[in-house]
Amino acid sequence: MRALKIIISTIALALFFGGCAYDFIPQEEVIDPDDPNAETISFSTEIVPIFTSKCVRCHSTGATTPDLSTNNAYSSLNSSRYVNESTPESSLIYTKPLGSHGATYSDAEAAKILLWIKQGAQDN
Ligand code: HEC
Repeated sequence: MRALKIIISTIALALFFGGCAYDFIPQEEVIDPDDPNAETISFSTEIVPIFTSKCVRCHSTGATTPDLSTNNAYSSLNSSRYVNESTPESSLIYTKPLGSHGATYSDAEAAKILLWIKQGAQDN
């Protein structure tokens, strides 16, 4: 009887604590695109992964322009059609996925894109 109580309470405790386990999803940090001391955004390691995860399913080579595949993204965007260096906020690559589009940027992603443009839209 005592053994049974121990077994039952062990199971109850396991269910209680196990059942409450959840994955903690840390909030992505939103950088300030106007911070002059902000880190330099890297096109290849910070911008391209956004395109790969959210855009390439439609914007792949030979599909919808701009071609945002890893090897072609920079040359596709290296044009005043997509990047407006005098008014970065008006850049099509920044504004298009803010509205209702196939995919939208998170706040953190949008801030990175804008900062990358403000820093000169480098192929870095
Ligand atoms: C579900 C498919 C789909 C996804 C996902 C998608 N797009 Fe698009 N995108 C389109 C289509 C279709 C067009 C052309 C029609 C239009 O301009 O809305 C387009 C147009 C654009 C244009 C304007 C092209 C031009 O020259 O006028 C830009 C910029 C753009 N997309 C960026 C993005 C970015 C960045 C992402 C990822 C965050 C993305 N799109 C995700 C389908 C998609």
